Amino acid sequence: MLRPLEFQHDPRLLVGLQTSDDAAVYLLDVGIALVQTLDFFPPVVDDPYTYGAIAAANALSDVYAMGGEPFLALNIAAWPNDLPLHLLTAVFRGGLDKAREAGVVIAGGHTVTDDEPKYGLVVTGRVDPERILTKAAARPGELLYLTKPIGTGAITTALKAGIAAAEHVERAVEWMVKLNRTASRLLVSHGVRACTDVTGFGLAGHASEVALKSGVRLVIAARAVPIIEGAELYARAGRLPGGAQRNRAFYAEGPDAVVRRGRGIPTVLWDLLFDPVTSGGLLFTVAADRAPALEQAFREADEPLWRIGFVDEGIGVDVVAELPG
Ligand code: CO
Ligand code: CO
Ligand code: CO
Repeated sequence: MLRPLEFQHDPRLLVGLQTSDDAAVYLLDVGIALVQTLDFFPPVVDDPYTYGAIAAANALSDVYAMGGEPFLALNIAAWPNDLPLHLLTAVFRGGLDKAREAGVVIAGGHTVTDDEPKYGLVVTGRVDPERILTKAAARPGELLYLTKPIGTGAITTALKAGIAAAEHVERAVEWMVKLNRTASRLLVSHGVRACTDVTGFGLAGHASEVALKSGVRLVIAARAVPIIEGAELYARAGRLPGGAQRNRAFYAEGPDAVVRRGRGIPTVLWDLLFDPVTSGGLLFTVAADRAPALEQAFREADEPLWRIGFVDEGIGVDVVAELPG
């Protein structure tokens, strides 16, 4: 729906709608650029404080995905007239605490009345213009990594249906509130150039973005992809959100399919690759000779990391059962 619109051209807009990355980047001065993003969505869990924390971590993530450091934010919220305001206060408190953890100041915001609650943040950050992480920088020969497991869509859908086990929800929440801050810093300091965060399009959808914008072929090993405990169970029971099927239809079906299914991939794994993720991890590529040092740095920082594939010549995403070798 943006296609009919004519946007301004400004040479200082380093990353904008033309390239559509995780956040916009605007050059302020030599050596410093502004990163700007906005994200908000309806509740994914019952507890208002946790919902606020998840929404904030998710909004901040788009700055981290660009290699930036967020420092300022504004609340954006919608709230029904018939819901108690102390619940909204709890949502804001969850967002505030998460922003504080990230070293980000929340300077205000705006709330409107709406039938369905919604909450998120407008986030401003800074980035070194020479070290911006984009979706367009993956190169053949590089290795592909992910920093959080997938499966939050299946688990939150099961939660809404009242069938999710408490420990599965707890695990999913732990991942959703986790900041991508340390991971992002490690990527920038190790010379990574290609990165995005995994959210609503699912792992396969976001991998497609990287493949198409970089003009490369990503090979993902389905069995190497980390999945939150319980997600497979709920996916097998058909508890995937509507977005999972829409993502699969868009990215993997029809003559223009970008994501191709290899042999021997169980249907439940295949389906989970398209499961919309809330506040997911960073998906990035790194040159093979830099990978050992990066893996070592993640271990030392106690940051989770999974190698899930590699980059090759060609275009699109090939999902295979296992990594060769
Ligand atoms: Co993003
Ligand atoms: Co976003
Ligand atoms: Co206002």
